Parts: sequence; C-alpha cells; structure tokens
Amino acid sequence: MKTHSIAIDGPAGAGKSSVAREVASQLGFVYVDTGALYRAIALFSTEYPSVQQFLANLESDCHLELKYFGGTQCIFLNGENVTDKLRTAEITMKASELSALPQVRAFLLETQKDIAKAYNVIMDGRDIGTVVLPDADLKIYLTASAEERASRRYLELEDKPDAPSYEQILADIQQRDYNDMHRAIAPLQQAKDAILLDSTNMGFHEVCEEILSLAEKHLELE
Ligand code: DC
Repeated sequence: MKTHSIAIDGPAGAGKSSVAREVASQLGFVYVDTGALYRAIALFSTEYPSVQQFLANLESDCHLELKYFGGTQCIFLNGENVTDKLRTAEITMKASELSALPQVRAFLLETQKDIAKAYNVIMDGRDIGTVVLPDADLKIYLTASAEERASRRYLELEDKPDAPSYEQILADIQQRDYNDMHRAIAPLQQAKDAILLDSTNMGFHEVCEEILSLAEKHLELE
C-alpha cells in the first residue's frame, strides 16, 4: 500500500513538533519526532568515555524503538523508555553535536525511512525533505526569527526552577542553528520543492490551518 508523507524541516524552536503533532492528529497520521532519535543517541553516548568508543559500540549496542501511546511518541533505548530524559540542556547540545557525525546519520536513516514506508507520517527534523523523504507528498520549511524562537522558549520555561535567561536561550538557539546548518552531511536547508512558512508573526492555529490546507491540495486523501 502506498503511504502518504509530510516532511517538516526547520531550525530549533520553530514550533515544528507542536504543529506536526496537531496536524498528525487531525489527519490521523503518525507523528514522528526524528530529533528524539538523535537525542536518544546522545543519551546512549553518555555511557562512553570517548566519542570513538561510543561510535565503536553504536551499531551493536544501541537498540532504538518508537512506540505510540495515545498518539504520543515514546522512545525506548535498549528496552528502557527514555522519553523523559531527552530534553535536558546537556542532551540537547550533545544531540546537535553528534548529529554531524556520518556514522550517526547513517545509523538513523533506515529507521526513519522504514517508518514512512509502514505508516502515513508527518515527520519533523532537519533533513527530512532533503535526505530522508525526498519524495514526500508535501514538504514544509517552518522557521521564525531566532529572537522570536528564543522568546517563545523563554515563556515556556520562565516558571520552572533554574529557568535559563532569555539571553542564554537565544545564544543556545544560535549555536544550534549554526551547528545544524553548517555540518558537512545533511545540513539543515530548505529543500528546493519545500514550501516556506515563516511563523514569526503567525499563531499556532494559523500555522496548523495553513499546513492542513496545503495537505488537502498536495495529498490525495480519502
Ligand atoms: O528537533 P530537536 O531539537 O529535538 O533535534 C535535536 C538535534 O538533533 C538537532 O539539534 C539536530 C539533530 N537533528 C538532525 O540532525 N536531523 C534531524 N532530522 C532531527 C534532528
């Protein structure tokens, strides 16, 4: 059976995951957060004293599984549900660094392609439209200014204990943008046939509506 796919790429904090989750639930598609796969690999790497040792054990000892509970993606690393351990500042930065390694990208490529072969998916990441699903039915490049992305993140975190300052969040976002856009393999870039959505001055629902209406045009849904 031919499956449908929507690719959403864009920089950190552009709102890809919340938008993709909502659109997936409206369309009855599986939402695949590929960043969580890179984050799980970053967590796995913390078990090793050096990058060389981590890479030497990646293929043989890192077993990742995606499972869905009520539409929410959970990620299992060697049988353990590690979903709640993936959002720390340390893992975030490590995922961005390790995702530049060709071995890491190759390791995850087939996993991502296989999911899209099995289900109708909306997949978000950095290289979905360019590398993982070059034949996706619809490709979106979702972005917003770095300042707007930092300020959204700041508002999400401000009530939490030890919340970082706006300046720290902005600096982290700029560092991750730089890493993600300048790596040699599969850097973050807008695919030639992707539709650009700049959400700097758009609300969440507006972005979702826009993607749903594009999906209606580009996908032959029953
Ligand atoms: O989307 P995220 O912030 O959870 O992603 C974490 C890191 O993983 C991001 O900085 C870059 C990397 N990543 C990637 O290189 N390719 C993807 N398709 C998804 C994420």
